[in-house]
Amino acid sequence: MARMIALVPAAGTGSRFGAPSPKQYLQLNGKPLMWHTLAALAATPGVDEVAVVISPQDEWFDDFDWDLPKLSVHRVGGSCRAESVANGLGALACEAEDWVLVHDAARCCVPVAAVERLIAALAGHEVGGLLALPVPDTVKRADADGQVAVTVPRKGLWLAQTPQMFRAGLLAKALLGMAAEDITDEASAIERLGLKPLLVEGDAQNFKVTYPRDLALARAILAAREER
Ligand code: CTP
Ligand code: MG
Repeated sequence: MARMIALVPAAGTGSRFGAPSPKQYLQLNGKPLMWHTLAALAATPGVDEVAVVISPQDEWFDDFDWDLPKLSVHRVGGSCRAESVANGLGALACEAEDWVLVHDAARCCVPVAAVERLIAALAGHEVGGLLALPVPDTVKRADADGQVAVTVPRKGLWLAQTPQMFRAGLLAKALLGMAAEDITDEASAIERLGLKPLLVEGDAQNFKVTYPRDLALARAILAAREER
């Protein structure tokens, strides 16, 4: 039977966050930020393995006690996210038909229910798909002077999240032979093969910690869950 492997790229430096250590290692409610990410994936029924990809130069991972089931660690991160994912795929002992759920380490508040929704929606799907949210606000395109050039109709526009779930063989093929810096998510690599990933309703709590201002919200969401 096909396995379900969560692949977590965590080899970034967090340059926009600007902390002394990469943002995935910042303390958040008593644990490293990425612990919450890995714990949610490990707690998802149907996920067989949680494979985290860290940088070969990583100086932080071994300082913490991860203490999570299903976890495997791969020191094969690359110079951009797509390269870390491709290297991780190569390091995993997986079959072409295994499912891979690629999820950003920095999306530490991902609800288990959202991951389950993605897995359920894609059972038997030919291509695979991703969590995403319909754009809620009015969208403007700016001109070079920062003025509104045009209002873009938001109908049909979605914001891509992760996990993004594809068969290992298809994903490896999609990532192969492309300029990795051009690939901002797995779905866009699949789309370039002429295939159409399924959009599955994500969750506003599943945002990516990018700037210091994002930490307060992540802290509040995780604390509220602990109180329940
Ligand atoms: N990532 C990775 N390898 C890279 C770059 C990014 O595995 N060479 C991972 C990050 O660790 C993160 C995810 O991809 O979990 C999403 O990337 P992003 O939020 O952009 O994180 P960083 O690249 O670390 O941050 P920044 O772009 O601000 O430097
Ligand atoms: Mg980045």
